[in-house]
Amino acid sequence: MSFNIAIDGPAGAGKSTIARLAAKKLSFIYVDTGAMYRAIALGLLRRHTDIENEEELQSALDTIEVGIRYEEGEQLVYLNGEDVSPLIRTEQVSDMTSRSSAKPRVRAKLTRLQRDLAARENVLMDGRDIGTEILPGADLKIYLTASVETRARRRYLEQTEKGAACTLEEITEDIRERDYRDMHRETAPLRQAEDAILIDSSDMGIEDVVSEIIKLARARM
Ligand code: DC
Repeated sequence: MSFNIAIDGPAGAGKSTIARLAAKKLSFIYVDTGAMYRAIALGLLRRHTDIENEEELQSALDTIEVGIRYEEGEQLVYLNGEDVSPLIRTEQVSDMTSRSSAKPRVRAKLTRLQRDLAARENVLMDGRDIGTEILPGADLKIYLTASVETRARRRYLEQTEKGAACTLEEITEDIRERDYRDMHRETAPLRQAEDAILIDSSDMGIEDVVSEIIKLARARM
C-alpha cells in the first residue's frame, strides 16, 4: 500500500517549494497537480479554444494529452509528447489555468491520472482539491496557507527578481482575485478538508514548514 500526503492551499503559500523539499526528504514522489492544469491551459490557448463553449471545450480536450515524467527527481509535464515545463509559468497561462480549471470537464480529465499515480507510489501531491476530492483517504492532509499580504510580497519579489515589471498592488489584487475564483467555483473549490492540519506559513521559514510536515508524516508512517 502506498502512503499518500495531500497538500492543499491558495496560490503563493509556498506549497510547491515546500512540497518538493519534503518529498525529497521522505523519498516520496512529488506531484505538482497545478502543472498538469497549466499544461491543459496551454493546450487550450494554443488552440484558441472558447472555453465557455462546452462542445468546443470537449473537442479540444479530446485532442489534448497530459503526462508527467521525472528527471533527477524533478517533475516534467508533457503536452502531447512535448515537454512544456518551461512554458507554463507565464501570467497568460496562469490566468487561463485559473479559468479552465473551474470547468468540470477539465477536472475530470486529470482526476484519474492523479488517483492512479497515488495508488501506485508514495506521493506528496499538491493542489487545491487533493484532500477533499482526489485523495479523500490520504494518510496525511495539510492545508498550507499564508496571509494575502505575505503571499503578495513573496510573489512580488519572485517576479521582480525575474525582471518582470509589476507593482505590489497589482499582485495583491491578482492574488485576491485568484483566491476568490479558486474558493468560489462550483466544482472542487479550494477548502480545507475537515481532517486536514492547518499550517499558516506567514511567520514561518520554509525549513520550519518542511520539518513540521516531515514530523507529521513520520508519526503516521
Ligand atoms: O498551484 P498553481 O499556481 O500551479 O495552480 C494553477 C491554477 O490551477 C490555480 O488557478 C488553481 C488551479 N489548480 C486547481 O484547480 N486544482 C489543482 N489541484 C491544482 C491547481
